[in-house]
Amino acid sequence: MDVLDAIRARKSIRGYKPDLVPKEVLREILKVAIHSPSGLNTQPWELTVITGEVLDNIRRGNVEMLNSGAIPMPDAMQSLDTKFETRVSFLYKGKYKQRQVELAIQLFELMGIAREDKEKRAEWMQRGFRFFDAPAAIILSVDRSVEELKAMIDIGSFAQTVCLTALNYGLGTCIEDQGVMFPEVVRKFTGIPESKRIVISIAIGYPDRDFPANKLETEREPVENIVTWCGFD
Ligand SMILES: Cc1cc2nc3c(=O)[nH]c(=O)nc-3n(C[C@H](O)[C@H](O)[C@H](O)COP(=O)(O)O)c2cc1C
Repeated sequence: MDVLDAIRARKSIRGYKPDLVPKEVLREILKVAIHSPSGLNTQPWELTVITGEVLDNIRRGNVEMLNSGAIPMPDAMQSLDTKFETRVSFLYKGKYKQRQVELAIQLFELMGIAREDKEKRAEWMQRGFRFFDAPAAIILSVDRSVEELKAMIDIGSFAQTVCLTALNYGLGTCIEDQGVMFPEVVRKFTGIPESKRIVISIAIGYPDRDFPANKLETEREPVENIVTWCGFD
């Protein structure tokens, strides 16, 4: 697949077919993704690839935590040293908050979820914590000795490479915070130690093309609104 086609075709997939992804295919994707750039070639990414019973246990554990009203304490952003709710409202303000709201409106519209329908909204939220029922997921973590902000950039580049490479195998992905918002659940079933910061997850599987949310085409700010050209004239 042409690289430009792949970049334009990639989108977050939130509904999957139940078909399992062969381990060999996942290995091939990761063998490509290790070519991602990292600061000083430190390659801080550590990967845990999950499927089957382990993934089901994490899904169940995540949803139980969510339904119990437990406050998520993701490893990433711990350095901000504030409560989770404060962090979320602190992170998104103004146009960023607006984009976040627009995304939710678009997704709920496609899924036929009314604003006041608390039950369906809760079910949608759970779906994220269930890795959108994908047959596999990849957890990206980093040793805590690596400076957090530096590691985040490297993990971002790795995650995007995974998502682009996956397209070559007919696979869809969704990079997601939700899967690792209860790191204690992920640790319990994978054995990832406390010495590793669990940064992000990627749900991966064969896209269900009929799933309404998969029809979403998110908008982008045009280049001219985000670029400052220097020294060209
Ligand atoms: C760091 C990161 C975390 C994300 N977490 C979630 C998540 O928890 N749940 C979700 O539904 N989508 C999540 N997404 C997907 C974004 O919502 C999505 O990338 C964005 O809306 C742009 O849409 P697109 O990926 O279809 O182009 C995340 C994406 C990134 C990069």
